[in-house]
Amino acid sequence: MYKFLINGGKKLSGKVDVSGAKNASLALMPAALLAPGVFKIDNTPDLMDVSTMSRLMETLGAGISLSGRLQTIDTVHVSNFEAPYELVKKMRASIYVLGPLLSRYGYAKVSMPGGCAWGPRPVNLHLEGMEKLGAEVSLDSGYIIAKAKKLKGARVNFDISSVGATGNVMMAAVLAEGTTVIGNAALEPEIIALGEMLIKMGAHIEGLGTSTVTIEGVADLHPVDFVNIPDRIEAGTFLVAGAMAGGTVTVDRCDPRHLSALLSKLEETGARLDVSSGSVRIEAPDHVNPVDVSTSPYPGFPTDMQAQWIAMMSRSTGSAVVTDTIYFDRFKHVPELVRLGADIEIKENVAVVKGVASLKGAKVMSTDLRASASLILAGLVAEGTTEVLRVYHMDRGYEHIEKKLRGLGADIERVQSDEF
Ligand code: UD1
Repeated sequence: MYKFLINGGKKLSGKVDVSGAKNASLALMPAALLAPGVFKIDNTPDLMDVSTMSRLMETLGAGISLSGRLQTIDTVHVSNFEAPYELVKKMRASIYVLGPLLSRYGYAKVSMPGGCAWGPRPVNLHLEGMEKLGAEVSLDSGYIIAKAKKLKGARVNFDISSVGATGNVMMAAVLAEGTTVIGNAALEPEIIALGEMLIKMGAHIEGLGTSTVTIEGVADLHPVDFVNIPDRIEAGTFLVAGAMAGGTVTVDRCDPRHLSALLSKLEETGARLDVSSGSVRIEAPDHVNPVDVSTSPYPGFPTDMQAQWIAMMSRSTGSAVVTDTIYFDRFKHVPELVRLGADIEIKENVAVVKGVASLKGAKVMSTDLRASASLILAGLVAEGTTEVLRVYHMDRGYEHIEKKLRGLGADIERVQSDEF
């Protein structure tokens, strides 16, 4: 086990490069199951979640390697269609293998993802989508078992906009017989990236990036080379770090078009932004204005930035209301931020954050990926030393975070720890 030791109060400045998008990688990788052959995916981040997906796909028979940013996936020898509990319990995105396996091989057995640190997170929309396409879906001893001789195109309307269910149904529909129309499809850039890779593989998809996606099934697909998009949540986390602890920070190799909701909220805090293609420079405000946010599906303010926003608002000059409309109980970071001296009250899915003049270093515990990010941000501006335990959560989704932050002037170190 490792922990981070952060000596707060160092001004951040300089340039940091954003890695490839975790959430896009986790969809692009299983898409390779749809065609036998060798795929090359560039700009793949070296992260725990990507390793977990690699291990899962290896148990299915795929060969996967990562050399620098270039990932090679060989799907010629895929012959096992079961995603075991031991891997699915580590990462819910494992459910992404359901659509491709079912569509290409007519059978998938995937462990049912359980609850997670911030609530139940069901997969009913994924299963209903597969059933609409003609699959027979049952649950047995904690596993989802889906079978279909040949999936058939259908109208799939989602009551809730779901990133994962949209991606899964898209991957199932590309090899189905006939036309599938997805209503209330997710608009997230990661879903567009997935759709673009599927189109490159030979799929017929229209309406990507709109709420109605139409897919005409094809008989087969072929392997491709593809370049992953930048991670908008990692970029957003560095921008918030710059606003809280800058100096002037330039976040490079990002796609500012994917960050518009966050950028306009950052401007309201008083931060000065200079946006160019592939890069955002942020100059920290003298004082952070309190700014309310409410999360919503893309292009709204991302739930994956909610914890970091609360960390920033804990140092604002007033009171900010932060509402999460996507995950009602995603607030496990709040009691830990309070240990650092933050003043935050939670009522249902609303956090009222009253800015305090200073935070004080303490020992805090990561509970999930974005919660860990918020604790590190708070530690960067806290007086004295902050110890962030259980950094394996951070390693799931941020590549070399301490090196990147040190490059900006932060005093942060990863040290071995026996504490849980
Ligand atoms: C993805 C992201 C995650 C992000 C989330 C919301 C990946 C790997 N993860 O997760 O980082 O926080 O989008 O932007 O891309 N829902 C149902 N039934 C379902 C599926 C979802 O009720 O079958 C609900 C969820 O509980 C949630 C909402 O739909 O309230 C949106 O979730 P969804 O977009 O599916 O999230 P994920 O794809 O799991």
